[in-house]
Amino acid sequence: MNRNLIELKDITDERGSLIAIENLKNIPFEIKRVYYLFNLENDKPRGFHAHKSLKQLIICISGECDFILNNGVSEQTFHLNSPTQAILCESLVWREMINFSSNAILLVLASDFYNEDDYIRDYNVFLDMVKGESND
Ligand code: TYD
Repeated sequence: MNRNLIELKDITDERGSLIAIENLKNIPFEIKRVYYLFNLENDKPRGFHAHKSLKQLIICISGECDFILNNGVSEQTFHLNSPTQAILCESLVWREMINFSSNAILLVLASDFYNEDDYIRDYNVFLDMVKGESND
């Protein structure tokens, strides 16, 4: 799942750094929604769901955390500690976010508007859906 880690190109000079993300250029979907997670607590993990069709790009723009991706067959943990690293989270991927540092902020770019019906919040239902897809 290493293709899920995207290195974003930064424009850096003596004043600092800048990263631009543009629809369908360095992100493989059109962005319909942007949100961010902040005030995160080290002992309060988040995520624990997959999406039926939503795609997301997640960037730890401040601080650090661990991001776990699980496609129902294998699992990989990414340590995010740089605004130049982005996680591409495709549909039907279970995600967990853990070990937030006190200043962690996660920026999320999403391919669609918020829709609770797109969530799979039960891990066993997720595994059944992955199996169903692979039987098609
Ligand atoms: P959720 O996606 O479960 O958070 P996380 O994966 O970070 O643990 O969302 C938490 C709550 O916020 C849930 O009640 C749904 C709501 N929510 C919205 O109303 N709009 C949004 O765009 C998002 C992402 C969540």
